[in-house]
Amino acid sequence: MKELDGQIALVTGGSRGIGLAIAQELARAGARVAVVARNGEAAEAAAASLEGTGHRGYACDVSESAGVKVTVGKLEEELGPVDILVNNAGITRDNIFIRMKEEEWDEVLAVNLKGAFNMTHALARGMMRRRSGVVLNITSVVGIVGNAGQANYAASKAGLIGFTKSIAKELASRGIRCNAIAPGFITTDMTAELPEAAVEELHSRIPLGRFGDPEDVGGLVRFLAGPAARYITGQVVAVDGGMAI
Ligand code: NAI
Repeated sequence: MKELDGQIALVTGGSRGIGLAIAQELARAGARVAVVARNGEAAEAAAASLEGTGHRGYACDVSESAGVKVTVGKLEEELGPVDILVNNAGITRDNIFIRMKEEEWDEVLAVNLKGAFNMTHALARGMMRRRSGVVLNITSVVGIVGNAGQANYAASKAGLIGFTKSIAKELASRGIRCNAIAPGFITTDMTAELPEAAVEELHSRIPLGRFGDPEDVGGLVRFLAGPAARYITGQVVAVDGGMAI
């Protein structure tokens, strides 16, 4: 018997990087996973690679509310009601503030913040009816401490923290827990573009002396999604090697 046996989990941006590691951990814990990503083939390939059976991949842009509703309807019909939602899909469009274009601001807010609203809104009513559910939002340490060159991204991630705490308060009486996870620097496509000098400088600012791995985030999601975290809601848990101490 595994702790998430019989549960359905939905992971946005689950086709690669941190989202894929989250999907892998949830599958290992016994959940059946719906992997949602913009690229349907990548989502299906990721779902097929997970441990166990019954996982599915779906193409969906989380920033489009109509498409989210259609996708959620389809996947709940195929897999059953979603017990665990992980809002992980996220993008960066970095620029120093004075040069930041309106589109760069809008795109990042649309995916990182409105995407979480769209998905949670599409699923919350069912969770409320069933009086159980878990919502986990992948924010960032940058949403807590800010970062030069990432005003749009930091604003979206700080917004996710306010969103998490508010819905935690609203939905607790319906048996739904909501928490945020704040990774520091994690080795994925998102951080692959950093120049080597910047990476070395960043390592020197991380007490544990290195970037984290996607599995470090996956393990925390597994814990927060499971019964061992049943009294934890409205929290922001950092997984950052001590960077934000
Ligand atoms: P990644 O770029 O490797 O993967 C992002 C995933 O999101 C991909 O699967 C992509 O298809 C999906 N995605 C992007 N836009 C989407 C949309 N509109 N609709 C549906 N799916 C969409 O990124 P990574 O590094 O795995 O990041 C995952 C999350 O973790 C993001 O929210 C990111 O902000 C956050 N994070 C990452 C950190 C890092 O150091 N890599 C640090 C802190 C937070």
